[in-house]
Amino acid sequence: MKKIMGLIALTLSASVLAAPKAQWVTVDNNVLAKIRPKLNKSVQTLYSAQGASVVKLSQDEIEGLSHVIHNELHRCGGFIAHESFEEAQNALSFQGDMYFAKSAIFTDYTIDQSNIVAPLVAQVEEPSIRSMIEKLSNFNTRFYKSETGIKSSEFIRDTWSELSKHRSDVKVELYKHSSWPQASIIMTIQGSEKSDEIVIVGGHADSISGMFGGNSRAPGADDNASGIATITEVIRVLMQNDFKPKRTIQFMGYAAEEVGLLGSKDIAGNYKNKSKKVIGVMQLDMTLNKGTADKDIVMMADYTNGAQNEFLGKLIDEYVKVPWGYSRCGYGCSDHASWTAAGYPASIPFESTMEDINRKIHTPQDTLQSAGGDAKHAAKFAKLATAFVVELAN
Ligand code: BES
Ligand code: ZN
Repeated sequence: MKKIMGLIALTLSASVLAAPKAQWVTVDNNVLAKIRPKLNKSVQTLYSAQGASVVKLSQDEIEGLSHVIHNELHRCGGFIAHESFEEAQNALSFQGDMYFAKSAIFTDYTIDQSNIVAPLVAQVEEPSIRSMIEKLSNFNTRFYKSETGIKSSEFIRDTWSELSKHRSDVKVELYKHSSWPQASIIMTIQGSEKSDEIVIVGGHADSISGMFGGNSRAPGADDNASGIATITEVIRVLMQNDFKPKRTIQFMGYAAEEVGLLGSKDIAGNYKNKSKKVIGVMQLDMTLNKGTADKDIVMMADYTNGAQNEFLGKLIDEYVKVPWGYSRCGYGCSDHASWTAAGYPASIPFESTMEDINRKIHTPQDTLQSAGGDAKHAAKFAKLATAFVVELAN
């Protein structure tokens, strides 16, 4: 991540060159207002919707645009080139922020931190992940309105606090929601150089059983004690090695996912309102059950950012060395969709393809035993998430 400005400019102009006729550009209105004075000629807005506009630019101007965005706004992405006016217009009309979240390039995806990442990845251990899954599954339910659901979020907060107690640059907080009692959990590792840029790894902390939840037994070992335990292992490794990122890293345990992504919607909406600069989001929801024989990690291609998904594939090849592929949820199946809807780049590396999904989720049988009895599969995701935060934050 050292030569970030130049590299991103190169990446963007390379993708533009790959589509030589691309002259219609969809660009965020805030970005457009700032770059207008910097462009050589006056640029007419051809169409506007969802906080973004279509403008027509020459190849040279498009390349200039990426430089201006970097030098003036110190950010990446924010515009996309299209082959025709219709394509650009359609892109905006249909999806707005969501469209940008899925298609734009938000940061430099060069892999150049292997000196740090490789030794950290080697320290990921299956037993500590398994132990956290057992502890979380032992709460009768983590349902968002239940007493044990409230307690289980406090337990996650306490576990993350204990792992980071020696660090003055790390804080762990409950994020309280106004409409239900279960809090989300947020750990923040303050960046040492670019602390306004944030890399997020999250997963939902709640569980559910049956149609109505309530107090019925909901161990949620796979869905999603596994994701929280995977995140906890990343935190353990980073803290034990005193890793200090340049950008800010946040780990999140979301409340109330199982009842409509409520916790993550609240948080992502709040980040959007505050114009927080989130450069990458990884969702870990279900990492325990190896359901697909020939693929260990499966990226859901819908409601996610294409460039970041590709980057995750490269991280797997480099650091995890397991077979991976793509599948689709077909709907906004987890908290990554909240970040995508808020205009941020999100991915969800998943335990299996959609066809091979664990059928025990949302039942009292979603246990460690029914998912194979160990956390070996989850350990692969802890390695990937470790690589993701270090490569993006440094
Ligand atoms: N972990 C699941 C999401 C999931 C299920 C992903 C199956 C891939 C395959 C999540 O906790 C969940 O249950 N989501 C809900 C949707 C949500 C909007 C309430 C679901 O899938 O029904
Ligand atoms: Zn679920």
